[in-house]
Amino acid sequence: MTNTQQVDLQVNIPAKSSLHYPIMIAPQLLTNWQSWIKDYAPSKKIIIVSDSNVANLYGNNFCKELNSAGYQCQILHFTAGEASKSATTKLELEEKMFSFGCDRHTLCIALGGGVVGDLAGFTAATYMRGMNYIQIPTSLLAMIDSSVGGKTAVNSSYGKNIIGAFWQPQAVIMDTELLKTLPREQIINGFFEAVKIFLTLNAEQFNFCCTHLDAILNLEQAPLVQVLREAVALKAHVVEIDEQEQNLRMILNFGHTVAHALEKLSDYKVLHGYAVAIGMLVEAKIAELSGLLGNSDYKLISEFLAKLGITPQLLAGYKITELIFAMRGDKKNKNQQIVLVLLSGIGQVKNIDNKVAFAVDESIIEAAFLNLMT
Ligand SMILES: NC(=O)c1ccc[n+]([C@@H]2O[C@H](COP(=O)([O-])OP(=O)(O)OC[C@H]3O[C@@H](n4cnc5c(N)ncnc54)[C@H](O)[C@@H]3O)[C@@H](O)[C@H]2O)c1
Repeated sequence: MTNTQQVDLQVNIPAKSSLHYPIMIAPQLLTNWQSWIKDYAPSKKIIIVSDSNVANLYGNNFCKELNSAGYQCQILHFTAGEASKSATTKLELEEKMFSFGCDRHTLCIALGGGVVGDLAGFTAATYMRGMNYIQIPTSLLAMIDSSVGGKTAVNSSYGKNIIGAFWQPQAVIMDTELLKTLPREQIINGFFEAVKIFLTLNAEQFNFCCTHLDAILNLEQAPLVQVLREAVALKAHVVEIDEQEQNLRMILNFGHTVAHALEKLSDYKVLHGYAVAIGMLVEAKIAELSGLLGNSDYKLISEFLAKLGITPQLLAGYKITELIFAMRGDKKNKNQQIVLVLLSGIGQVKNIDNKVAFAVDESIIEAAFLNLMT
């Protein structure tokens, strides 16, 4: 063989095998950690990454119990809040992990909300080129949304979540008891993500949410577990088909184009789930004005969202031109056109060969905002 000969090799990376991990959903899973820990901690060395709130509520105690049982565990926590989701905190974590002697066989446990999950997940993705981690999400948003799918990231001054990696956990352990300490506003914030999934993918579950709303928000275990199980199964299914967000996974962006504009214009003062909920209201109106969503379905959606405090009044104070300008910066957009996921009914979206995001004329977007804001 000469140097000039081309060699064609094929690498058969079993890309999808990384997606095979269990998601456990039940009360008391953290208290009963003995039932699952052995499957994930081969070297007895464990690092728990958490934030200041969750460390105080659960993490410190969990770490103490692990040490009493013969594990070598250390908890690393940072100040709770989005501001900690940075490269600086990641570096601090890494340095502490090196000084504790963590290697690739150390188990990293992300115990907390989406901030902890994203930061610990991204740290695990790059520490010694990748270490195992499990997610124990403690906020409803993290359970329904951020702990499943393998997206990990930190923020930079150039934008949110723009430095990161796809890195799948070994398992996701959702202990529904942990939600009892979560403020109600945060419960509703996370619940909107389930609403988004059901509105785009499953009418039956959306109806279940309509009829069991109080029970779900009061954290009654049976309806809560049902919502989690169904939302997570649907999300996992979408992610399985489209891990890298090429086509179908875009469906999870319903409500998000408007949400991102609202978050940007409010300087991220609106909680993400609430921004998505307002986004769902506006994007449902856009689908109605586009002739895709029936008026009775739109009414059902807007009445349901109103019960959760989401009304057009929340758009007061925003300028339509500024909202549309901000929407033009969305990363889904193509050829300088705003691209949206459009409902074609409850539980379904416009879908052509798994393409689910479509360019929408700005005049329709403007008309939707005008309709809601006047
Ligand atoms: N990776 C993804 O796919 C994905 C998807 C959606 C959102 N996210 C990210 O998730 C983050 C938002 O997640 P979040 O809403 O969980 O925010 P968060 O992690 O900041 O948690 C919200 C607040 O609740 C507290 N908390 C968490 N669990 C608690 C509990 N059981 N009891 C009492 N307090 C508790 C936290 O300390 C924090 O103060 C954002 O950074 C967002 O970018 C990521």
